[in-house]
Amino acid sequence: MKNRLARIFNQKSGKTVMLAVDHGYFQGPTTGLKKPRETIMPLLPHSDCLFVTRGILRNCVSPATSTPIFLRVSGGPSVLGELSNEDITTSMKEALRLNAVGVGTSIFVGEKNEDRTISNLGRLVNEAEEYGMPVLAITAVGKEMARDARYLGLACRIAAEMGAHIVKTYYCAEDFDKVVEGCPVPIVIAGGKKISERDALQMAFNAISKGAAGVDMGRNIFQSENSVAMIQAVRAVVHDNYGVDEAFELFNKLKEKKVVDSVVE
Ligand code: 5RP
Repeated sequence: MKNRLARIFNQKSGKTVMLAVDHGYFQGPTTGLKKPRETIMPLLPHSDCLFVTRGILRNCVSPATSTPIFLRVSGGPSVLGELSNEDITTSMKEALRLNAVGVGTSIFVGEKNEDRTISNLGRLVNEAEEYGMPVLAITAVGKEMARDARYLGLACRIAAEMGAHIVKTYYCAEDFDKVVEGCPVPIVIAGGKKISERDALQMAFNAISKGAAGVDMGRNIFQSENSVAMIQAVRAVVHDNYGVDEAFELFNKLKEKKVVDSVVE
């Protein structure tokens, strides 16, 4: 368990930049991930780990990569159905076979199947503990839910109480520090819908300043006009204490050098 966690969190900064590319598990070929291999491979060297489903891992990621793999192991509904209707879809045996450093499942607090998804998390932790496998709980936010500290704090705490080793949630402008305080395990933030690069860097900066242990960011990296420059700017904020202006300047400099998003074998 400790060795796997040490491969997720950078030894110097104690933080992590996870690249989330699991969106297709309910959204299908979403913008930026229509050709997953082309999107993922140039970003891999800059990611502390890749959050991905086994299908995309098998088909679109070179097994020669040294970037740790964090597996999304839940699924079931599509974007057309009831999103909270999830079960565990990938076995622990498969996660071990794929040499994963962790497994992730969503909990839908306040949604139709909240009890089932929280039980899924509990059962996954039971099994994961047997093999020293860290579990990431993703606090999925339903369409009707306000992304405020009260709701996110509730969901994060429940995830930690169930035994999650890391919790992924959204950033909220007000009282995010209280969400972190109420959760005894590291919190990483999802980026959410694409916003401007500067705003996304500001969000990452705010989250880190208020106690987040990193990001598990997807769209604000892979939908960026220059995804390789963007992930490096996010890294500068998370690992190197860059301010927002400095990080945005870095993004622009890297972009101007026209970092080529070519496929790296
Ligand atoms: C989807 C997920 C994604 O991994 C998560 O939302 C992070 O991606 P983004 O930064 O695009 O929000 O768990 O359910």
